[in-house]
Amino acid sequence: MSDHLTLVDHPLVQHKLSIMRDKETSTKSFRQLLREISHLLAYEVTRDLPLTTKRIETPLTEMEAPRLDGKKLALVSILRAGNGLLDGILDLIPAARVGFVGLYRDEETLQPVQYYFKVPEALEDRLVIAVDPMLATGNSSAAAIDLLKEAGAKNIRFLCLLAAPEGIARMKEAHPDVSIVTAAVDERLNKVGYIVPGLGDAGDRMFGTR
Ligand code: URA
Repeated sequence: MSDHLTLVDHPLVQHKLSIMRDKETSTKSFRQLLREISHLLAYEVTRDLPLTTKRIETPLTEMEAPRLDGKKLALVSILRAGNGLLDGILDLIPAARVGFVGLYRDEETLQPVQYYFKVPEALEDRLVIAVDPMLATGNSSAAAIDLLKEAGAKNIRFLCLLAAPEGIARMKEAHPDVSIVTAAVDERLNKVGYIVPGLGDAGDRMFGTR
């Protein structure tokens, strides 16, 4: 779509996302679908990871075999909904390091409030992929990226499932260097900061809370 935004419009992603949006979809199915979609989103967000080669011997001959280059990447889950994307991404990148940023949204001001922060060491040498299914106002995402940059991160990508135009604009303004990968860009936010048409509260839907 642009350098700043990649829309993953793969038919499998779109199909699974539509089932997730349906309010009749159970917690169990929602969680399973999120895990499946996160595999496909992880594939896209890591598409241009740098490679090096290593000399190996196959049963037939020697070869220069491609391997991922550089330090293990860091996945950072923005709690709590980010955890729903995390497990599926770890299926594909099991050696990744993992961090957590805890932010809750003040329901009146819609501003993020930090309650937890723990990230892998040497963040400055790693590709950091911050994950949160819903890019809504962009306030908590932008605040999470601020914290990651303060901790040294220089090469950051943001992975979400759904984005609102307002959230994309906010992120672009606050962090133009952070590219976003999403499965859909929805119409708008409602008065209380929910994405419309959206899928409701992602955390509640994946964990079965209300
Ligand atoms: N967070 C959610 O879980 N859903 C939204 O629509 C917006 C923010």
